[in-house]
Amino acid sequence: MPKGNSVVTGYGFYAPSRVVTNFDLEKIVDTTDEWITTRTGIKERRFASDGETTSSMSTRAARIALERARLRPQDVDLVVVGTCSPDYLFPATACLVQTALGAERAGAFDVEAACTSFVSALAIANGMILSGAARNALVIGAETLSRLLDFKDRTTCVLFGDGAGAVVLEASNASVGIESAVLHSDGSKGELLYVKAGASRVPATAQTVAQGEHFIRMQGGEVFKLAVKSMADAAEEALAEAGVTGEEIDLLVPHQANVRIIDAVAKRLRFPPEKVFVNIQRYGNTSAASVPIALAEAAESGRLKKGDRVLLVAFGGGFTWGAAVMEWWGVPIPDRREKTIVERAARTVDDILDRVRLPS
Ligand code: ACO
Repeated sequence: MPKGNSVVTGYGFYAPSRVVTNFDLEKIVDTTDEWITTRTGIKERRFASDGETTSSMSTRAARIALERARLRPQDVDLVVVGTCSPDYLFPATACLVQTALGAERAGAFDVEAACTSFVSALAIANGMILSGAARNALVIGAETLSRLLDFKDRTTCVLFGDGAGAVVLEASNASVGIESAVLHSDGSKGELLYVKAGASRVPATAQTVAQGEHFIRMQGGEVFKLAVKSMADAAEEALAEAGVTGEEIDLLVPHQANVRIIDAVAKRLRFPPEKVFVNIQRYGNTSAASVPIALAEAAESGRLKKGDRVLLVAFGGGFTWGAAVMEWWGVPIPDRREKTIVERAARTVDDILDRVRLPS
């Protein structure tokens, strides 16, 4: 993959204001704060309020990211939303975001790879920018999983939360940006973590609803084992593809599914705790939103600084897993239109060399 010319120039996240603590859940399901804290690391999560949706939260996160990038909605080429809890089966949530933002020129589509959706969307947007098909992309990970939870099933309802994170990705001549992105999947294990009914295979009926088949079901123990191995493997592959070692990474931003999974992955990769970003205690597992929320929080809090090298890694239902290495930029490209004399001269030399290299 060509390197270093697809760069994050803006970031943002939105977490709904409704905080649901473990103690709140103790009142509705047979669980304890102690069990949830020790088994998962989660203390509280955010749930969307009535009227909030995956698209509305995406739009809020996207506006912040666009403002940071100083990019106008009408200049956006592409809106990609990674989610497994879209507003509708169709139209795509990305289309709702596109229209809410006024991104009138943008193409828009959703990516569904469960918790790996954001990393997958980032890989796709990166590829489109490198190919020249887009100059920029708004890449969003967002979920309203609270609406897919069975609050009678203690093995799942304590784990998940809602929210959205977004980045603006732009073409740049600078040698910073995404250095590698790898994606993998294994569909044979799909039923370890899935929503059975409500789409075309098992359409929604009064019976599927009565049986709660429109809720998330998961075999947690199996998922746990697969998660550790797949995340560590993907991280190592992304490092190798970028041509860097773990020591050269300043911050690991993993999918926030369970603090024990994060610890096990960090241990396998030999990352010390100070190089691992963890915010699961405040948000729970926000699936596709977890990596971009963590990325944005890390940048806002100063844990991630311009020039740092960051490793993103995620896994999720499907099964899907992936990782990306990038040199963090996080601020606008100085001036998109008026290039400096040096940059213009370098571009001219590049163009001449390209012509010389072309076969006659
Ligand atoms: N409160 C109290 N007890 C509970 C709860 C709860 N909320 N949930 C389960 N238990 C009980 C179980 O019933 C079981 O009791 P038993 O021994 O009497 O049968 C006991 O706790 C232990 O259950 P386990 O499932 O073995 O607990 P484990 O330590 O494996 O933790 C967990 C469960 C947290 C789900 C863990 O397996 C996990 O995190 N798995 C990965 C989940 C994950 O990351 N999923 C997201 C994928 S991302 C995506 O694509 C959406």
